[in-house]
Amino acid sequence: MANFHHTLSIFLFALTISLPISLSQPPPNATCNGIFVSYAYTTGYPIAPNLLPADPTHQPYRFESTLTVLNNGLEELKSWQVFVGFRHREFLVSASDAVLADGTSLPADVSNGTVFAGSSLPDLKSAAQTAGDVNRMRARVGLVGTQFGVGVPNVPLPASLYLVNDGFSCPPMTKLGTNELHLCCIKAASNSPNTPLNKPRKTGDVTIMYDVIKSDDTNYWAQVTISNYNPIGRLDNWHLSWDWMRDEFIHSMRGAYPYIIDTSDCIFGRQGQYYQGMDFSTALNCERAPIIIDLPLTKANDTNLGLVPFCCRNGTILPPEMDHTKSKSAFLMQVFKNAPGREPNPDHPASELEDKRHVQSGLPMWATGEGRPEPVPRTPVAFLRRLQRLPAGRWFATPRGPSWRNRKCCVSFSAFFNDSVVPCNTCACGCKNYVNDTCSAAEPALLLPSEALLVPFENRTKYMKDWAKVKKMALPNPSPCGDNCGVSINWHVDSDYKSGWKARITLFNWGETDFADWFAAVQLDRAMPGFEEVYSFNGSVIPGANNTMFLQGLPGLNYLVAEKDGSNPRKNPPIPGTQQSDILFTKKTTPGIDVARGDGFPTKVYFNGEECSMPSVIPSSGRRKIGAATAFCSVLVALLVLLCLQQ
Ligand SMILES: *[C@@H]1O[C@H](CO)[C@@H](O)[C@H](O)[C@H]1NC(C)=O
Ligand SMILES: *[C@@H]1O[C@H](CO)[C@@H](O)[C@H](O)[C@H]1NC(C)=O
Ligand SMILES: *[C@@H]1O[C@H](CO)[C@@H](O)[C@H](O)[C@H]1NC(C)=O
Ligand SMILES: *[C@@H]1O[C@H](CO)[C@@H](O)[C@H](O)[C@H]1NC(C)=O
Ligand SMILES: *[C@@H]1O[C@H](CO)[C@@H](O)[C@H](O)[C@H]1NC(C)=O
Ligand SMILES: *[C@@H]1O[C@H](CO)[C@@H](O)[C@H](O)[C@H]1NC(C)=O
Ligand SMILES: *[C@@H]1O[C@H](CO)[C@@H](O)[C@H](O)[C@H]1NC(C)=O
Ligand SMILES: *[C@@H]1O[C@H](CO)[C@@H](O)[C@H](O)[C@H]1NC(C)=O
Ligand SMILES: *[C@@H]1O[C@H](CO)[C@@H](O)[C@H](O)[C@H]1NC(C)=O
Repeated sequence: MANFHHTLSIFLFALTISLPISLSQPPPNATCNGIFVSYAYTTGYPIAPNLLPADPTHQPYRFESTLTVLNNGLEELKSWQVFVGFRHREFLVSASDAVLADGTSLPADVSNGTVFAGSSLPDLKSAAQTAGDVNRMRARVGLVGTQFGVGVPNVPLPASLYLVNDGFSCPPMTKLGTNELHLCCIKAASNSPNTPLNKPRKTGDVTIMYDVIKSDDTNYWAQVTISNYNPIGRLDNWHLSWDWMRDEFIHSMRGAYPYIIDTSDCIFGRQGQYYQGMDFSTALNCERAPIIIDLPLTKANDTNLGLVPFCCRNGTILPPEMDHTKSKSAFLMQVFKNAPGREPNPDHPASELEDKRHVQSGLPMWATGEGRPEPVPRTPVAFLRRLQRLPAGRWFATPRGPSWRNRKCCVSFSAFFNDSVVPCNTCACGCKNYVNDTCSAAEPALLLPSEALLVPFENRTKYMKDWAKVKKMALPNPSPCGDNCGVSINWHVDSDYKSGWKARITLFNWGETDFADWFAAVQLDRAMPGFEEVYSFNGSVIPGANNTMFLQGLPGLNYLVAEKDGSNPRKNPPIPGTQQSDILFTKKTTPGIDVARGDGFPTKVYFNGEECSMPSVIPSSGRRKIGAATAFCSVLVALLVLLCLQQ
């Protein structure tokens, strides 16, 4: 299958008006030999409600302004991005030929300033490359929005303005007249041949490729590929959405499906007028912002819906580290183009995908047994990822910090030199609203005997009380709440001798569903170069991340099963699904490592791509000297070796 990566070609027909030539002073855009950035306020007026003259600070005004980015340098400026530091509680309603770089759709609150990126002209050619074709050297963004409190004769101007792209130095901006700010950013001098301009594009965790593979007058086939490059990230239940800008609609699809099958927008819209006589009952979706979801595995070989390489993964995309054949999802779709009155843009179909590109996660979506997904009412979806535009139909996504709202897993620590377990933190995965304060969300978790780890939190009370008595610890009232995590992971330092040490990792599934293809990643800041072997899992140090180990089940053992009832549910508490392995380390490559005092405990642990909550303390060896334990172990090992040799 040939992929055509369409090069950018935009044709604008500019009306040239001869202006009286001012001989006295050339305009600043002519004297700049770098990237010229300007922000010019054009017009504005008060809009309702009319609060003047009583409350001038809350009076809203419409404003219109133009952001200009002009490449007067020698080389192409790829993926331009400009920060505009708005400061009058601006609410942006539209921006022509640009998107907000953080993926937010307009209208949007931009009161803290925002970064713009080009949409139809993301890369700015240089004059040398285009024989001075200004239309390919310059991006002009018309902004329309609302600001508060600045009325005539004052002019609302941003507090700052600069080019975001790496490798440029921007001087402070200069004011021209009352309504314009501008600056000239110069490529920073650098001796390294790998200047940011010729560095490869930034890659993201997730890229989305949109390739037009076949095109004719009225429609084209596109292949969309979502690839995961994060070594420890995964997507479950992906949803993909975008806005059509030119009244396109999806006629057919293989390898994925629209969330809603609905063509009424076509029948009553411009598409219906344009494609008169077309049978829209066979088309799939005419929404301006369709949501695409994956097909279940069973459709992979379906002659109507499947048979697309990398399709039909039930919305799951694994890390490439784990299985590169399962680290992407692909689908094909047939798109009908342009209703009348819209300029066709066959050279750059990817530009027809605009804004609002989200890989979303978290909706129930497939009704099994049917050829079509059951329409589920749309609910607000947490955007797991934020996508950024890259030219030629490629976007990248980066995880957004706060969206890892609630953790789903937690870690407990234990060690051979301490008979207590440091359990998962109180409310590590959130706390429900407990009625009548039956437990305390503020109390730190109490140390436990190791056998308590196998018991659901609800049934640990007795262990907690008895252990507090044995260890002469105060038992707070109410006692601390549980961790509420679906998965907990115990890291046990099992031995520590002169030449190496051993850890044991145990995964507990307290939830009601199995985890197929589970994986975990463990970050050990100092110990990882000594990694030797994992016995019961498939484990390896992630290439390029020398402090993180990747663990997954061996073939046939890649399920972390759900919690199940005890043998006698009245007497025995439920039993979590578990998986366990020993991990062996040598100390040869990590001289000076202090396993017991912290180097043997992970600083971060991930389960299925989600970062787990870590305990705040590590087991300590109390007054006992670690030296003694080490010596004891070495003696033990020496004895074992002797025994082996004698046999
Ligand atoms: C430079 O600025 C002048 C005056 O503001 C304007 O007329 C001209 O079109 C600009 N040139 C470019 C290449 O943007
Ligand atoms: C602007 O910044 C303030 C302070 O950091 C924050 O509280 C507010 O949510 C931000 N607003 C937007 C729209 O991001
Ligand atoms: C689809 O066909 C391929 C090759 O014949 C086979 O390996 C695969 O298991 C089939 N998948 C399903 C879901 O039936
Ligand atoms: C497909 O994904 C859904 C949602 O994540 C899950 O509930 C279901 O069990 C999965 N089906 C299969 C066959 O894995
Ligand atoms: C372990 O995982 C790697 C990478 O996914 C794979 O290439 C290898 O075959 C696996 N080994 C075993 C024994 O399953
Ligand atoms: C909570 O306390 C109220 C009043 O003290 C009581 O009526 C109610 O039954 C309690 N609920 C539970 C679940 O204990
Ligand atoms: C890990 O890799 C980084 C850079 O690749 C290197 O600077 C660091 O020394 C390495 N750490 C160890 C413990 O090998
Ligand atoms: C475990 O705790 C649950 C919830 O408090 C309770 O219903 C169940 O009876 C307990 N099981 C045992 C064996 O104690
Ligand atoms: C075990 O470790 C915990 C946590 O560091 C500590 O509070 C406790 O005193 C230790 N117990 C012994 C016997 O050293």
